[in-house]
Parts: sequence; C-alpha cells; structure tokens
Amino acid sequence: MNRCAIGVDIGGSSIKSALVDLERGSLASERRRVRSPAMSSIDAMYAAIESALPEQRASLAVGIGFPGVVKSGVVRTAAHVADAWIGHPLAKTAANRLGRKAVALNDADAAGLAELQFGAGRDVRGTVLVMTLGTGIGSALFVDGQLVPNTELGHLEVDGEEAELRAAARIRMTGKLSWSDWLQQLNLVVDRLHALLWPDLIILCGGITEDHPQLATEIASRCPVRVGELRADAGLIGAAFATTLTSGVWLRSD
Ligand code: BGC
Repeated sequence: MNRCAIGVDIGGSSIKSALVDLERGSLASERRRVRSPAMSSIDAMYAAIESALPEQRASLAVGIGFPGVVKSGVVRTAAHVADAWIGHPLAKTAANRLGRKAVALNDADAAGLAELQFGAGRDVRGTVLVMTLGTGIGSALFVDGQLVPNTELGHLEVDGEEAELRAAARIRMTGKLSWSDWLQQLNLVVDRLHALLWPDLIILCGGITEDHPQLATEIASRCPVRVGELRADAGLIGAAFATTLTSGVWLRSD
C-alpha cells in the first residue's frame, strides 16, 4: 500500500485538504483550507480543490469526501451545494482533471472510516453510529467494521422536523440557540436514532467537538457516546484512506 494519499473534505463553508499518512492515520502535511464555492458552478469547485491540494505530490491518489450521497463515484444528492452536482461523476471527473487516481464518497462516511480505522471506534465490534455535526448532520453506520454507505440519517424527521434542522452545529449559530437549548435538540435526535438502530457506540464528530471535547458527557444515551479522536481532520483522513479500499465499502483489508 502507498504510504500516503491526499484527502479532500468538501464542506458547505470550506474545503480542507492535506497529505495523509495511511499507516498512522494522521496528517503528513499542513492542512490547507480554502473557501468552498458550494453554491457556485462545478468548475469553481474543481478550481478550489486544485488550489487546496498539497504541492509537489502529483502522483498520489486523492480521496474526496462530498456532502451528499455518492454512489459508485457519482453524486446523487446535494443538500449544501448547488443542484448541478446531482448526477455529476465526481470520481471520474476528478481523476481526469487532477490527472491521478481519485475516489469519492460521502463526507460522513469518510469521517466514520477514519474513526473506525484509526480513532474512537478502533477495534469496536457491533453497530457503531458516527454522526458529524457541521453545516448539516451526516451519518455513517458500521456493522462489525463494515460500512453501510450513504445512510443520510441527518434528514430523518424527528417530531416533525428534520434532525439536521434541529441539531446541526450551524443551527446553534443561525438559530442563536443557547448551549443548553442546542444540547436538548441534539439529545432528542440522538435518542430517536438510538431507538431506531440500537447501536453499541455513538461517535460524535465535527469542528464543534474541538471546541467542546466534553460534548459526549452531555448526551444522555443508552449506549456509550464518544467524541471522535481525529477531530476536524477525520473527514480528510478517511477520504485519503478510502483510496486504499479495494471492495468499496469494506473497512478492513485484513
Ligand atoms: C447531507 C449528507 C452529509 C451531511 C454532512 C447532509 O445534509 O445530506 O450527505 O453527509 O449533510 O455534510
């Protein structure tokens, strides 16, 4: 296996990219961050991705985490980016434009892969639910280390309102929610997801967990809840790691 690959994490507000050490599951270069032209053209997004790539690494594969459903490298939904992305062959176009091997997957699935391989879900068997709290709520579901891709649980309706409209990190800002009001919403969402999936572990990811590393202790769940260990880098580490997966959704190659 190549020791390094490049990870790209496309978000609603920024694009992050770095060289990733695939043996350690850590960054091997500085993380570059550019503004995400989320609602502009597809071309503008590729230009932004190109500007965020680490220099001098032309031959390395790139993994791209995208904030929507991605099946076989093709974008199927676009919640926080322009509708023009729907149907776009992201993996194929990225490979052509960037001149290297490219894979594309859902951003929360990428973060989940990283946490299960290198972080808070390492060696955990059973059902693990990873939730990313950012512009939206992303979800990644694992059963004995195998990813069930594109679960989209952030769009689950909880008491008449979509989960991500109740408890995404962005909602705390835009809705000017107090910390305790936001926590109440997040607890409601976690409780509903627990009642439907009965996971053995829930891992919370996203920038908000960097500012509030104690977040897990504020969730009253019937299963253990942990904050992701890879913090805001999980998405790009997982995207880079996805370049090594041979059978699409299998997490472990052993
Ligand atoms: C999208 C998901 C994405 C999540 C986090 C949701 O609105 O539908 O695909 O994983 O936001 O970006």
